[in-house]
Amino acid sequence: MADLNGKVAIVTGASKGLGAAVARRFAKSGAQVVAAARNRDKLEALTREYPDQILPIQCDITQPDQVQDLINTTAKELERIDILVNNAGIGRFGKVQDLSIEDWDQMMDVNLKGVFLACKYAIPHLIRSKGHIVNVSSVAGTVTFSGGGGYCASKFGLMALSEVLTQELKKEEVKVNTLCPGSIQTDFFDDPKDYALSAEQVAETVWLMVTAPSGVIYNQIIMRPQVPPELQK
Ligand SMILES: NC(=O)c1ccc[n+]([C@@H]2O[C@H](COP(=O)([O-])OP(=O)(O)OC[C@H]3O[C@@H](n4cnc5c(N)ncnc54)[C@H](OP(=O)(O)O)[C@@H]3O)[C@@H](O)[C@H]2O)c1
Repeated sequence: MADLNGKVAIVTGASKGLGAAVARRFAKSGAQVVAAARNRDKLEALTREYPDQILPIQCDITQPDQVQDLINTTAKELERIDILVNNAGIGRFGKVQDLSIEDWDQMMDVNLKGVFLACKYAIPHLIRSKGHIVNVSSVAGTVTFSGGGGYCASKFGLMALSEVLTQELKKEEVKVNTLCPGSIQTDFFDDPKDYALSAEQVAETVWLMVTAPSGVIYNQIIMRPQVPPELQK
């Protein structure tokens, strides 16, 4: 399981949910993982599971100076950056006329600007390591639904940013991976469906992307839970 031995990964939104599962999966594979989010207590609890491999760094992904510090501290402490998983994300749902301006701004700031900032500062290091960027988008970045005006717009925007990154970083041999999961059993929704994907199943796919065989890039993966036939619309 030591296939990420010697690799340094940053996982944003790692205090819980999918990000924490990715941090654990990478640590289990031998990586040094920087777990970034705002909730210090949760990050420290995660670190206690893998004290030699997970380093917690408190960071609000919407704040340029904090993101720059996150990248600089990682590069200084761990001497390289091989993998950036842009996972931090929030969802606020409601028809456009009902969605608050604050909710719209927060989604754009976390889901889109946060990814831009992390990439902006990490790319020079990723070019050096010929590393990976994994952007956690959503099925909502590929299809729209009523009530998803802000969330879908942020994730469709992320899909565009991922495409641009793919083009800009191809010659540098930085692999850009975009993952579009359907429902996951995390705190993201108040009442996730029983059949929703587990965070561990999605984390396994992130691991698959960053351990692709030499010469292979998993550009985009869409994964959905299998909905039991009796619950299908
Ligand atoms: N759950 C689903 O059904 C689902 C489906 C498709 C895609 N996704 C995507 O999967 C990703 C992970 O979501 P999840 O399901 O694991 O949700 P979650 O359990 O609510 O976790 C969200 C994470 O994002 C972090 N975060 C939020 N705002 C942040 C900020 N300003 N700065 C830094 N970190 C921030 C949170 O940490 P702090 O609060 O500690 O900062 C937390 O660790 C998101 O991008 C989401 O859009 C989720």
